[in-house]
Amino acid sequence: MRIVLGVGGGIAAYKSASLLRLFTEAGHNVSVIPTEASTKFVGAATWEALSGNRVSGSVFDEVEKVNHVRLGHEADLIVVAPATADLLARAASGQANDLLTNTLLMARGPVLFAPAMHTEMWSHPATRANVDTLRSRGVLVMEPGVGRLTGTDSGAGRLPDPKDIFAAAMAAAAPPQDQAALSGPLHGKTVTVTAGGTREPLDPVRFLGNRSSGKQGAALARAALDAGAQVRFIAAHMDIPAPEGVELTRVETALELREAVHAAAPGSDVLIMAAAVADFRPDTHSDTKIKKRDDGTDPVITLVRNPDILAEAVQRRTAAAGSTAAETGHKPLPALIVGFAAETGDGDADVLDYGRQKLKRKGCDLLVLNRVGSSLVFGQDSTEVTLLSPRDSADTVPLTFTGSKTEVARRIIARVAQELEAALPVR
Ligand code: CTP
Repeated sequence: MRIVLGVGGGIAAYKSASLLRLFTEAGHNVSVIPTEASTKFVGAATWEALSGNRVSGSVFDEVEKVNHVRLGHEADLIVVAPATADLLARAASGQANDLLTNTLLMARGPVLFAPAMHTEMWSHPATRANVDTLRSRGVLVMEPGVGRLTGTDSGAGRLPDPKDIFAAAMAAAAPPQDQAALSGPLHGKTVTVTAGGTREPLDPVRFLGNRSSGKQGAALARAALDAGAQVRFIAAHMDIPAPEGVELTRVETALELREAVHAAAPGSDVLIMAAAVADFRPDTHSDTKIKKRDDGTDPVITLVRNPDILAEAVQRRTAAAGSTAAETGHKPLPALIVGFAAETGDGDADVLDYGRQKLKRKGCDLLVLNRVGSSLVFGQDSTEVTLLSPRDSADTVPLTFTGSKTEVARRIIARVAQELEAALPVR
């Protein structure tokens, strides 16, 4: 495949060298087009050596080859990484003031932007509008990662991991969704799925984590894609790769997950909280490794509560109820919010009782109750779940499914589609 890799002027430009490597190692022919600003971070020689192709960002080099027309026309895929706020603005307004923006205007194949900038720039209304404009034209704009940024700040704005950009690029260049997905029950719907386990850092090398493998969340995302949905996938630590075809945001901690969920929820029809979120985090985080002390005293770790992201998502929806999206200026919040509960019980009735209590406490529209034991659920391929709804009456026998995580995910998504139909006003 012929790929154009556009490189914007941000500190993350160096990470595009790994992305270029992934493309060339997979056998693709890559032409790199850096913006002038980006060459202050990484010079053209690096791109020429790694791609094996001539590199220029100017429309006035090799004029006889008409590069400003040819590169865009010939490309099967254009990937821009890092996409700065300036590049997104220039692309959205259709400017053609360098070779990269000319090439974007000539594109015939899919175009993918992988943004990187400071959180304030990413959340600025100007950038939001530019991203919406690009997306409305069918351009793919990835969600940036959440985490440490260039200065002392942290938040949404990190360049997504090169492996994730590579996966998104390959999915973008893959043939369009098959017919089954186009007629699936979630076609035209957006589903946000969280998956994996959060990690709460103690120092640069240690963290508090959990055993979540991310398999159930990945299976749910896959099932939602198969049902025709667009999937925003927010991945904490996972043992397996994220499914192809999702809009991926990587996070590490519960606070980063919270930020990503509240950014993805507006405009989503469904929110599925399958991630195992740490209920507590260390109250301090050491910037240097915690060492054994000569005086023989041992460190004491104090934990503080993390916010309950699921309960917050429900509260935000309740607070917004009554005002229309047009009045608040925000996109509508999910009509269906699905929680998970991993419970151990003293017997069947107790597990169900704990599940019902949790459903009430969290206020969600559907609760997927997992029975956990030493070998059940975490990391396993098969699972048993019971679905609880606040609409169940006291004598309803709740639905229970047993099977592989893939099969169970399909059943959950089928129920989600049913509940969504019941929850949404008839249009
Ligand atoms: N969850 C969340 N934020 C948290 C903890 C959990 O959004 N800080 C979500 C999980 O993603 C899951 C659901 O809440 O969908 C249930 O998580 P669980 O840890 O079982 O619930 P807790 O409220 O922690 O209950 P418990 O008192 O049993 O620990």
